[in-house]
Amino acid sequence: MERKIQIGLLGVGTVGSGVLETVLNNIDTVEIKKIAEKDLSKVKQYPELSQSLFTDNVQELINDPDIKIFVELIGGINPAFDFIKQAIQNKKHIVTANKELIAKRGKELFQLAEENNVVILYEAAVAGGIPIIMPLKQSLSANKITRIAGILNGTTNYILTKMEQEGASFEEVLKEAQNKGYAEADPTADVKGYDAGYKTAILASLAFNKNIDINSVYKEGIDRISPVDIGYANEFGYKIKLIGLVQNDEDESIDVRVHPMLVPKDYSISRIDGVLNAILIEGHPVKRVMFSGPGAGKFPTASSVVGDILCLANEINVADYPLPMMRFGKNRKDAKIKDIKETINKYYIRVTALNTPGVIGDLGTICGKNSINLHGIVQKEILEDGSARIILLTELAKEKDVQQAVKDMAENPKIKEVNNLIRVME
Ligand code: HSE
Repeated sequence: MERKIQIGLLGVGTVGSGVLETVLNNIDTVEIKKIAEKDLSKVKQYPELSQSLFTDNVQELINDPDIKIFVELIGGINPAFDFIKQAIQNKKHIVTANKELIAKRGKELFQLAEENNVVILYEAAVAGGIPIIMPLKQSLSANKITRIAGILNGTTNYILTKMEQEGASFEEVLKEAQNKGYAEADPTADVKGYDAGYKTAILASLAFNKNIDINSVYKEGIDRISPVDIGYANEFGYKIKLIGLVQNDEDESIDVRVHPMLVPKDYSISRIDGVLNAILIEGHPVKRVMFSGPGAGKFPTASSVVGDILCLANEINVADYPLPMMRFGKNRKDAKIKDIKETINKYYIRVTALNTPGVIGDLGTICGKNSINLHGIVQKEILEDGSARIILLTELAKEKDVQQAVKDMAENPKIKEVNNLIRVME
């Protein structure tokens, strides 16, 4: 009988415990040889398991020649990077859910893995339980990808959905989500778009087979979105979503960014609500496909991690050289990332102005002067202090022209405030 592939598991937090339970209950083709966990009190959750299975010393996994797959589920850069590096140098394949690590240090780790003839699989790093890495690497590899638009963060999608349903402010909903344990105590990485930024950069690297410098990816969160914007978006036929966007450009640069967008209600991705994630992929010849499902959580994420483990275990049993589609490939080039100022978008702009003659005229003139073609301009209501709320919707315009127009509006004495600027999905 073939010997079971032995794995080392680092971390039994939410995802790690899901992986452990899934392997123990569902899988008989691999065996967890050792589990490293710095907080050994977590071991009490598993009284049925031999305590000798657990250690607080990761080196016991890294230096064990029987362990063929090292599964990293602690997250963050340090010490995960060093542990993975050592495991690769000891010729272990890697499975990880660590989006931050892959987005920030993937290039080094993938190169090191190539040099050591091992692979790094990271299906769980993007959109938790949704299979998207392997489909992009394999099933969709015949395509020239033109656009990826993803709802890649469940926390922010939950907050936006609640704001829409309850008319509540961002701050109120965030607090409620934290109280219920849906949002982290420190929600910065989610609400500022950093988490979605890592995932978007990873998708871009796969779609275009290039290295993406995460620092060049524009990231804007949802903390400036108000129920007023959500209400107007709804009136105009849109929902507001935090979108990770990847587009290729004629000039060979790649447009990679994360920011809120008005998404037309007749796009199926606009109907992905609550904590769910979705990824829309457009390309030739497939045209358009959408993947949706749970983007986080113990068992959905474990589904992707264990899928990677089994994929590798099958390969290790039959070949010395894992499938090329699992590999990074030699000589992957660095992508040229388009500066947000050079991108072309449609825009929603909300302005508070004095209720005096000539305001609409001035706004139109400012747009015209900055080469912005208006799709519509509408005065929505007069506020209690007598000022007027005005919404502008533009046709396609260059971001730097729109930024200049916003500056010009802010300097106009009839304009009290430019409250928000949100890009509109085409
Ligand atoms: N915090 C993320 C989310 C899940 O809310 O979707 C892990 O990336």
